[in-house]
Amino acid sequence: MSEEIKTSPKGYYKMPHLDLFRKLKFLKPLEPTFGLLGCFFFCLCLILCLFLLDYRIVNGLHGQSWLKTWFKLNGSSLEPEKVGFLETGGGGCDIFNGNWEWDESYPLYQPQDCMFLDEGFRCTENGRPDDFYTKWRWQPKDCNLPRFDAKVMLEKLRDQRLVFVGDSIGRNQWESLLCMLSSAIANKTSIYEVNGSPITKHIGSLVFKFADFNCTVEYYRAPFLVLQSRAPAGAPENVKMTLKLDKMDWSSMQWKGADLLVFNTGHWWNYEKTIRGGCYFQEGTDIKMEMSVENAFQRSIKTLMDWISREVNLSKTHLIFRTYAPVHFRGGDWKTGGSCHLETVPDLSTSPVPSDTYLEFKTVINVLSKHPTMRNIDLLNVTSMTSQRKDGHSSLYYLRPPTGPAPLHRQDCSHWCLPGVPDSWNELLYALFLKRGISRG
Ligand SMILES: *[C@@H]1O[C@H](CO)[C@@H](O)[C@H](O)[C@H]1NC(C)=O
Ligand SMILES: *[C@@H]1O[C@H](CO)[C@@H](O)[C@H](O)[C@H]1NC(C)=O
Ligand SMILES: *[C@@H]1O[C@H](CO)[C@@H](O)[C@H](O)[C@H]1NC(C)=O
Ligand SMILES: *[C@@H]1O[C@H](CO)[C@@H](O)[C@H](O)[C@H]1NC(C)=O
Ligand SMILES: *[C@@H]1O[C@H](CO)[C@@H](O)[C@H](O)[C@H]1NC(C)=O
Repeated sequence: MSEEIKTSPKGYYKMPHLDLFRKLKFLKPLEPTFGLLGCFFFCLCLILCLFLLDYRIVNGLHGQSWLKTWFKLNGSSLEPEKVGFLETGGGGCDIFNGNWEWDESYPLYQPQDCMFLDEGFRCTENGRPDDFYTKWRWQPKDCNLPRFDAKVMLEKLRDQRLVFVGDSIGRNQWESLLCMLSSAIANKTSIYEVNGSPITKHIGSLVFKFADFNCTVEYYRAPFLVLQSRAPAGAPENVKMTLKLDKMDWSSMQWKGADLLVFNTGHWWNYEKTIRGGCYFQEGTDIKMEMSVENAFQRSIKTLMDWISREVNLSKTHLIFRTYAPVHFRGGDWKTGGSCHLETVPDLSTSPVPSDTYLEFKTVINVLSKHPTMRNIDLLNVTSMTSQRKDGHSSLYYLRPPTGPAPLHRQDCSHWCLPGVPDSWNELLYALFLKRGISRG
């Protein structure tokens, strides 16, 4: 008994141990299963979370997925490889349907290396602190674009003329292309304006020659495309000028021989820039006091298309019409303090605004699509993709310091910083240009 008593404390203390041991022994065969299962589910959750996070980041901000890099998975192994636009089978691809992808290898040039940019587009030098807007690449949904190669484009332009005609957004795009092309030329003095003119917004036409390739890249300012001139004698007093809706701009004589001809218009076809300033519409000798801007705009596009079918040899000239580039004034317009300042990220969360929302797009397309000549011209359909890029405008940074940055109530939310959005239009232009070369053999 004493032994028992003696051992009883031991036994007392031992009992739970034994009990626990017994329980453990009972549980032991199950434990690894629970552990493994738990571990498995935990890992599964972790991986799912990572993918979800990565997916959200990729779709929200950055195009390059670190998960893809981590797992050494390419786009090719995650989804079927996209066909190249220029390859057989890529021809039917709608390159304007796609999305903006973050790409660290962009921009295609540095502003300080490009002497062709005018002050208004040199945002970085004018004090814009962020450069996110230079790092987006346009990715079509169903195919891949050819990577821009300035040497290839210049070689194909040898002995040719590339002509841009339109408003200042056309000049924006023209300057972008000058920078993209000149990046391949070491000797910059071999690129020059044929009349020695500097690039400013005040000159009506500028012709840059790439001497090594005997080609010119030209810009003609014609915001309405049709002829604007003084009011005819005997016109009512409030008519200061007229737009002759049935006559092309005088400089059309110079455009028509171009090998690649790129049009744009739209930004001046509004009440502010026409009737309000005393510029009315004219057909023949009649001044149409009652004609709406939209109606006049439509007639001007009809005149353009008739002129093209009459005057332009579409076997020689590759004709491209770039559609309207949306502006992004929030809470007003240019004059009333509209704003796009501090926009640093594209609008990727929502689907792009349908192009038809923009009257400037709709008006042009309504006329173009009905015209028989449309079959032989390419549309550079940038409206929808550009609607997402509220981050790309010059905003306050269109003036060189110390004059700039501009005051908050005078923001430029129509022109684009360079490098920037117009570079993407030109990559699409490049794709269309090469495509045409291929289809003609
Ligand atoms: C990833 O892409 C590169 C080139 O884009 C290719 O060479 C490589 O084979 C791809 N790897 C896999 C696993 O698909
Ligand atoms: C232009 O592109 C947008 C986006 O892909 C598309 O919705 C629209 O139909 C296109 N318009 C024309 C006239 O091709
Ligand atoms: C340069 O190109 C023009 C056509 O734009 C052509 O008429 C001219 O002969 C070319 N000059 C040389 C030296 O090849
Ligand atoms: C650069 O181009 C200019 C004009 O074509 C030419 O006169 C000059 O010799 C070239 N310089 C070099 C180093 O090739
Ligand atoms: C149109 O251009 C093609 C190709 O340059 C040329 O062969 C043809 O003679 C031109 N047609 C006219 C009417 O000038």
